[in-house]
Amino acid sequence: MKILMVCLGNICRSPLAEGIMRHLTAEQNLNWEIASAGTGNWHIGKAPDYRSVKAAKSFGYDISTQRAQQFNHSMFARYDLILVMDRNNLKDVQNLAQSEEERKKVKLFLDNDEVTDPYWDDALFDPVCLQVEKRCREIIKQLS
Ligand code: 4NP
Repeated sequence: MKILMVCLGNICRSPLAEGIMRHLTAEQNLNWEIASAGTGNWHIGKAPDYRSVKAAKSFGYDISTQRAQQFNHSMFARYDLILVMDRNNLKDVQNLAQSEEERKKVKLFLDNDEVTDPYWDDALFDPVCLQVEKRCREIIKQLS
């Protein structure tokens, strides 16, 4: 299984989803490929936001070596599943799809809800991290 996690900046939410999912799948000896990307280009090459790094670390995950990249069309072919954090990401990524098959690979990470963007509120990073961890465990159960 190859999964791409997507948010807007690729520095807060999707790096958490990438790092936590990689950690949990490796722990279960699942040979899944996990990556993340942002729909925006502002943070290309940057490490995750220090608040995401800190929240992840406090729950036992190291995301500090991950680097931001921007989503591009080639990623539709490379990944089986593209899990987006909110409905804006869903619209932005689906707009880049060139076939129904590509469009169908794009789904909300939370199935029917959005992961709140914690960027403007320090207090949201821990709850977002826990929410992402819980959902990663569910996704692994569903797909493995
Ligand atoms: P993310 O959060 O999409 O979860 O990485 C954001 C990061 C940066 C910005 C917005 C959201 N920004 O406007 O720079």
